[in-house]
Amino acid sequence: MRVCIIPGDGIGPEVIGAAAQVLRALVPEAAIEEAEAGWGAFERHGVALPAATLAAARAADAILFGAVASPSHAVPGYRSPIVQLRRDLDLYANIRPVSSADAQRSVDLVIVRENTEDLYTGRERLEDDGAMAIAERVITRRASARIAHTAFDLARRRAAALGRPGRVTVVHKANVLRVSDGLFRETVLAVARDYPEVAVEEMLVDVAAMRLAQTPERFDVLVTTNMFGDILSDVACINGGGLGLAASANLGDGRALFEPVHGAAPDIAGQGTANPLAAITCVAMLLEWRGLPAARLRAAIADVLRDGPHTPDLGGAARTTDVTEAVLARLRYR
Ligand code: NAI
Ligand code: MG
Repeated sequence: MRVCIIPGDGIGPEVIGAAAQVLRALVPEAAIEEAEAGWGAFERHGVALPAATLAAARAADAILFGAVASPSHAVPGYRSPIVQLRRDLDLYANIRPVSSADAQRSVDLVIVRENTEDLYTGRERLEDDGAMAIAERVITRRASARIAHTAFDLARRRAAALGRPGRVTVVHKANVLRVSDGLFRETVLAVARDYPEVAVEEMLVDVAAMRLAQTPERFDVLVTTNMFGDILSDVACINGGGLGLAASANLGDGRALFEPVHGAAPDIAGQGTANPLAAITCVAMLLEWRGLPAARLRAAIADVLRDGPHTPDLGGAARTTDVTEAVLARLRYR
């Protein structure tokens, strides 16, 4: 197995370093190749996603991505490399599972986010001498249909595995965005007819945000457009112990990139206190996607979550290396 690791900026290298150690421990024969992307790469090479990185990502069986720091102001020539990677590799489905870290609440949901279009196509322009900014929102039937199939297939598999009926919540804002979200809604509901055994419901995105905060246990699989999925997955991950634990997969046909949901976290970068468990959970998702056993790793992560050590985001005082070492130690003794 060839794995391309792209550490990126900020805490990206800290948490991906931890993930790579775990990957090496579990799959010693894996060929791990490192590639650059992000703000640091932009400063060094004048390009945020060097051609060599894209080539390495294409050649690999799977990609482990850390995080990149993208400026909030326009910088000529800079484009977010993760958005570009998702598009260039056609990683159209962003899978963001959340399960509850504590026993009181049984949250077990997955956000399935469309990953290639919507407002993230970067079609923005200024008009009226810079007094008006316009962003184009692109929604296609093709992309909506394939993300719908991903969501309903997932709901069907989860229902079979968990021995209970499956449900997909279609999240949109078609009451306002009648044309664009109207097309998304109509396309997803048409695909739903191919899955009569999976229940389907619709929810407006603002209500979905409230319910994800209030009654997250009511959800199974949610399917939504790119930006809504981006925002809702940060809301949802609170139920799973926060950004330090949230992992995600970006899936295309036969290709996959795994990344923590969090960003480069400049406020804690370089301090050695970033929680590596989101990145380490990405390794578990990668193994599962390849059909390799990941139960030992899942159990090791659960043990460390229960018994510590915990990094500051979980209320502890441990360092990234302490948590990584604790996971590795449990893998050795299991
Ligand atoms: P962020 O996710 O980097 O951080 C938000 C908050 O969560 C911060 O207080 C941070 O310290 C904390 N946090 C995040 N990950 C953590 C971890 N593993 N352990 C402990 N605490 C953690 O989001 P923010 O601050 O809005 O963005 C910072 C930079 O990251 C920006 O340049 C943004 O563009 C970029 N970003 C990149 C993403 C990616 O590469 N996929 C995703 C989100 C943001
Ligand atoms: Mg995000």
